[in-house]
Amino acid sequence: MTKKWRVIGALFLIVVLLAIWLIWSAFTVPSQRAARMFPSPAPKHDLGKVLVVYYSAGGNTAEVAQRIGAMTGGTLLELTTREPYPNTPMLYLRAKLDLGNNKYPELETTALDFSMYDVIFVGSPVWWYTVSLPMLSFLSGSDFNGKIVVPFCTQGGRSGDFFQRFAHEARNAKLVSGMEFSRVSSIDPPSLDQTISSWLSAVDKEIVR
Ligand SMILES: Cc1cc2nc3c(=O)[nH]c(=O)nc-3n(C[C@H](O)[C@H](O)[C@H](O)COP(=O)(O)O)c2cc1C
Repeated sequence: MTKKWRVIGALFLIVVLLAIWLIWSAFTVPSQRAARMFPSPAPKHDLGKVLVVYYSAGGNTAEVAQRIGAMTGGTLLELTTREPYPNTPMLYLRAKLDLGNNKYPELETTALDFSMYDVIFVGSPVWWYTVSLPMLSFLSGSDFNGKIVVPFCTQGGRSGDFFQRFAHEARNAKLVSGMEFSRVSSIDPPSLDQTISSWLSAVDKEIVR
């Protein structure tokens, strides 16, 4: 076999493997990574009756939401889509296309009654420099009726217009300073709790009850 054919063979093999990987990932639902240990005792913050609504494809936003829940004694509510999204890397492509077409997914969670809560934390991953599609679905179907809403996001480096878009979409929310968490899985749990706790103290000061 000549060198030319060996190179063509190797390239063909790479293309086949890439195609198998893409097809496999298209039909695989993202699985959230396992939650890490919580340091004990977690700092406590009394912000009244708290609801923590979040969407998480990979577990980062879920982890932050759970830590907020543990510190505030809040109720957790995870948003799930009726049709699961494909696993990455197809998720990147799908999210790009759907964001471009304003094609928001249908959620399993129906409209919520926020009246019994004092503070509502709302968390989402950043997708393509903005709010993730499931969270856009949730926001477009919600009316916060003057409730205090605290946005947060997790991201891999750049949150883009996340907070501007969130503020634009969160109808009738009384927004409090949000927080972004970068590369959550690489932050050790005590440092993550410390960051969340400092932010919750700032939120507490900002809220006028
Ligand atoms: C479709 C998609 C698009 C993303 N776009 C961005 C981005 O624009 N900026 C960024 O910093 N991270 C981006 N990321 C990384 C995620 O925001 C980050 O890993 C986040 O913590 C994931 O949260 P989750 O594990 O709760 O799903 C993207 C991830 C996905 C799946």
